[in-house]
Amino acid sequence: MNKLISEVKKSFGELLGCDPEVAVRAPGRVNLIGEHTDYNDGFVMPVAIDRFIAMAASKSEGEEVELHSLDYTSSVRFPISHIEYDHQNLWSNYFKGVAYLLRQDGYKIGGCRVVLKGDIPQGAGLSSSAALEVASALTLKSLFALPLPDKKMIKLCQKAENEFVGVRCGIMDQFVSCLARQGSALFLDCRELSYGHIPFSDEFRVMICNTMVRRELASSQYNIRRGECEEGVRLLAQKLPGIKALRDVSLDEFLQHQHLLPQVVAKRCRHVIKENKRVLEGTEMLKKGDMHGFGRLMHLSHYSLKEDYEVSCPELNCMVELAESTKGVVGARMTGAGFGGCTVNIVHRDRAEAAQRSISSRYKKEMGVAPEIYLSTPAEGALKGVFL
Ligand code: GLA
Repeated sequence: MNKLISEVKKSFGELLGCDPEVAVRAPGRVNLIGEHTDYNDGFVMPVAIDRFIAMAASKSEGEEVELHSLDYTSSVRFPISHIEYDHQNLWSNYFKGVAYLLRQDGYKIGGCRVVLKGDIPQGAGLSSSAALEVASALTLKSLFALPLPDKKMIKLCQKAENEFVGVRCGIMDQFVSCLARQGSALFLDCRELSYGHIPFSDEFRVMICNTMVRRELASSQYNIRRGECEEGVRLLAQKLPGIKALRDVSLDEFLQHQHLLPQVVAKRCRHVIKENKRVLEGTEMLKKGDMHGFGRLMHLSHYSLKEDYEVSCPELNCMVELAESTKGVVGARMTGAGFGGCTVNIVHRDRAEAAQRSISSRYKKEMGVAPEIYLSTPAEGALKGVFL
């Protein structure tokens, strides 16, 4: 069993004097390609990474919920029938948001005791929040035997983040944290919520390079980009009636009507429309095992995010350039919302550790900060409530 699961189980016993009933874990993610497309009803291709949030839990008498975070060495208690946003213990709001929405949907949940711990770097754009939501939902589903199908649970987790935590995000992160498969990338159609698992060659590793830049601008700029995409749809709909999202606009249609759009809006739309195409092409390449072709698409994606979507930053660009000049790296680009956080890279497994060392020392020389670099293989989605 996973190390984190053993740790939360053991701590549950030490803190609460008995064994937990269930344990779950949910992974973080990194997106290989398809950036800023999920909220445009488009396509994405993330993988789960082998970093997780784990929870051990038991039901309790009455209606009190007790959450014990081992990472923060702090505990939060609240009655399940009266859930309020916690301005001090921000980490607890993900569990609270999920519990709140489950109750709002009529699910019967009562008191419980939960111990949690994670090893997903926080604030780095690797979806520790989505993992926390998915782990919370699975814990409550398992403990109270809730009839909660996967896709409903995923949407509920997204809603918890949008409405309770107050961060607008698409569906990608929660989806992949729940339904990823080990050794595969996940292709997801964010409108239909249809998906497929595409085997990821074992000769390659996913390398995640953390610039160590906090994503200060990410949430305000994220909302601005969403607004610009919506404006693009509104204006293009004058000529293309029936379109609901940028997903519905082909590149030819865009090129024909782009003069209707303010320049900035046109650039945003061009990124999204071309990025959706890249995800579809990338899917075919990955299926054929053409990693170099896939790497070229990652390169194009990065430059589109830098020039057209304008969500990159000097540190992300530096990290991508360093990776692209490193032996064994076949693809590199920024990943996630942008303005800091991480790049995602595909590197040959025999070169992975040397690449990690070389990028690390060159980035430190250029930027004056030591980056963190994690190697991963595509991991399995959330473990669905292991009964102990
Ligand atoms: C953040 C959001 C995702 C997605 C990416 C950009 O990570 O949480 O839903 O929109 O940005 O691709």
